[in-house]
Amino acid sequence: MSGEQGKKVISAIKGTKDILPSEVRLWQIAEATAREIFELYGYRELRAPVIEPTELFERGTGASSDIVTKEMYTFTDKGGRSITLRPEYTPSVVRAIIEHRLDLQPQPLRFYYIGPMFRYDRPQKGRYRQFHQIDIEVFGEKDPAIDAEILEMAHRLLSSLGVTGVFTLVNSVGCKKCRPAYGQKLREAALAVKEQLCPDCQRKSELNPLRIFDCKVESCRALAAGFPRITDFLCEECREHFKKFREYLDLYGISYRVEPTLVRGLDYYTKTAFEIVTEEAGAQNAICGGGRYDDMVREFGGPDLCGIGFAMGVERLLSVARIKVPERSFVYFAYLGEEAKKESLKLARNLRSEGIECLVEFKERKMKDHFSRANKLGAEWVLIVGEDELRKGKFQLKDMTKARQFEGSLIELASIIKGKKILETG
Ligand code: HAM
Repeated sequence: MSGEQGKKVISAIKGTKDILPSEVRLWQIAEATAREIFELYGYRELRAPVIEPTELFERGTGASSDIVTKEMYTFTDKGGRSITLRPEYTPSVVRAIIEHRLDLQPQPLRFYYIGPMFRYDRPQKGRYRQFHQIDIEVFGEKDPAIDAEILEMAHRLLSSLGVTGVFTLVNSVGCKKCRPAYGQKLREAALAVKEQLCPDCQRKSELNPLRIFDCKVESCRALAAGFPRITDFLCEECREHFKKFREYLDLYGISYRVEPTLVRGLDYYTKTAFEIVTEEAGAQNAICGGGRYDDMVREFGGPDLCGIGFAMGVERLLSVARIKVPERSFVYFAYLGEEAKKESLKLARNLRSEGIECLVEFKERKMKDHFSRANKLGAEWVLIVGEDELRKGKFQLKDMTKARQFEGSLIELASIIKGKKILETG
């Protein structure tokens, strides 16, 4: 694309997007609501770097996952190290726990984080190359009550943001003890129909047959529907965990469907796996995904610390959220002349110290033009600063929404503005 002077215009990278001020309030509200809710359950924020050693995801997310095989933004830095823009957050938290010996703190450890992730996937509605996740992780809690509690927390967040029409899919993907026998049965089933599977699934049938369930190709899905189901192969411990987990979900009144083909696209899960999906979001209907990963910390050379968590995609969440954005309320200064302009600058400074948003524009205007400008900008209040007002130290404050006017000192007017704010929000 060329600009006015024929110069090439630079656009944002495919699959990324600017979040402009008109939209950013929704993001801020969603983020603030998530933080507030997570803190209520004892979660604390942990911020890890956006870039990590590539090996972290190869070993954590998993060598056979689509994310690692196809979707990572990986580059070699000037020191010759292989660096990756994180495609997900879970391995970073695991790394941070081991690096800072957070396992020595009282458990369970509860963390949350909100930020960008990067996957080189084919961009489409609901799927971006830079997207954002609201992520929570818990470490050191074996009890299936936590599996249900994090889902209850996810649902609380969704309903606080006006998301309706969601349903929850749950499964158990077993553990090191029971999965190998299941994997063998699955491999046999996949090999028996290998010729009919897509090339990708043919490869998966050898490497990790569980991944076949992720395939989007309709004929593969139809074949996979007839494959053995993990839920029939669970060991006693996994079966008991899954049963208890569902009992706790019932306790919270969370409706769910057991989906034995839900294996999730990441390699690390053990026992519980879940997704929250919505019909509204279209093809990319998973707004939240997560599960238990009891082996990851140990596999990274850390202590024997089990883990569980979820991540919500913020773009998908906002596409189905119904958030009421409060009207902005600010004071527009209508002044006449240089002296009044200077006084306005000082008054605005004082009002801002009271927590009141102010706008003093520097362009000279007639009083009538000030009012049409204030209207255009959507000012709730106009403070009139003219010669008379300066002399008396009393100002006229016009409430633009209710066509009423007040007169008083700055302090008096500040309390009127704040009083109305309290009345309206309280
Ligand atoms: P995930 O299922 O890969 O899990 O991603 C979680 C959520 O992130 C998805 O349900 C979706 O809403 C959003 N998401 C994923 N990829 C994209 C994309 N390309 N564009 C827009 N949104 C996307 C994880 O990432 C795990 N780390 C979750 C977890 C935490 N498991 C345990 N702890």
